[in-house]
Amino acid sequence: MNRFAFATVSTLAVAAASSVVAEPQAEVLHWWTSGGEAKSVAVLQEEFASNGGTWTDMPVAGGGGDAAMTALRARVLAGNAPAAVQLKGPAIQEWYEEGVLADISSVAEAEGWAEVLPASIAGHMKCEGTWCAAPVNVHRVDWIWANADVLAANGIEMPTTWEEFNAAADKLQAAGVIPLAHGGQAWQDATVFETVVLGIGGPEFFQKALVDLDPEALTSDTMVQVFDQMRTLRGYVDENFSGRDWNLATAMVMNGEAAFQIMGDWAKGEFLAAGKKPGEDFLCASTPGDGYLYNVDSFAMFDVEGDDKKAGQDLLAKLIVAPNFQKVFNLNKGSIPARTDVALDDFDICANLSAKDMGATSDAGSLLPSYAHGMALRGSQSGAITDVVTAHFNSDMSSADAVQQLADAVANSY
Ligand code: GAL
Repeated sequence: MNRFAFATVSTLAVAAASSVVAEPQAEVLHWWTSGGEAKSVAVLQEEFASNGGTWTDMPVAGGGGDAAMTALRARVLAGNAPAAVQLKGPAIQEWYEEGVLADISSVAEAEGWAEVLPASIAGHMKCEGTWCAAPVNVHRVDWIWANADVLAANGIEMPTTWEEFNAAADKLQAAGVIPLAHGGQAWQDATVFETVVLGIGGPEFFQKALVDLDPEALTSDTMVQVFDQMRTLRGYVDENFSGRDWNLATAMVMNGEAAFQIMGDWAKGEFLAAGKKPGEDFLCASTPGDGYLYNVDSFAMFDVEGDDKKAGQDLLAKLIVAPNFQKVFNLNKGSIPARTDVALDDFDICANLSAKDMGATSDAGSLLPSYAHGMALRGSQSGAITDVVTAHFNSDMSSADAVQQLADAVANSY
């Protein structure tokens, strides 16, 4: 029997008779607070409610989730973990090792997740063979977004190489347009940095440098060139970039104040929430170079007491991976479904490009985990890299010094 059938009349009648019905409830910690994100998470809240669930929202503002992860640690240390937490990449396994995650294998098996998820995504959702997280989507990180009118007015095509990007940016700057909308927050600096590593170094170099943490790659001439390009990009952002939220940078592209933003496709969720049309109002293209940097959002369930909470976790896990949610949520969020069996006919050109490139790069071995969005490395290691990237971006540190600091920081992060 379907264990989620608690909303059916017969189940309720039986349960009422024995008065032990579990009413699913869940406190959900997440960092989806921007316009597009809030619209997306509302889809899950509505589905949860319409299946009898009571949702307690715990949003922690802050793009990239750093603040949310700090809040999570405090809650777990206080012995009061939220039932469901937006958590991804190796952090899932790190929390599992602390012995605080619930096993959701019974849901995963009943729902046949193994048959509908790509092996690469399923791998992130497992902890020592058990299912410990439910995937929501696939975000691509290596994107450039552009204001279509601003490019047209300045006779600029979407750049396909970093040289073209720099030439376009010089031209825009001369015309009084901010070339690059950027928010000076460490995770945003890291987001731009990893696309430059991929573009200048190529997929194999990315793997060596930011996944394998190979000291030779970290101190190579290629990495020096990456920091040179970061310095060049620093010259294309406006004076007020420090601390700016990513969605405000997206708004600068929307309103024509800036031409480009380098950001994952949650930025598309912002454009869409503002009624902008891809291919007309705004353009999308992958950042220069081969490869695809993936960022899979997921939810992990934490060990909690009480049948109502456990029922809530099971219901949430089931809904998250079910086809309807995967479609509707991702239409809003800018990402593509994690499931492979959801038709993309209703998705826009950017999403279809993402799906096509994901398939091609998977075949070519250049589908790579985003370091900046916590898919590639443990927290201490990605944090060590980001500290150097952001210190370089916000100072006049030379590229040679940056690579040395990078190698040292990584060596000390184990
Ligand atoms: C990413 C996350 C996205 C989006 C973004 C900005 O790390 O995967 O879903 O929320 O941060 O907050």
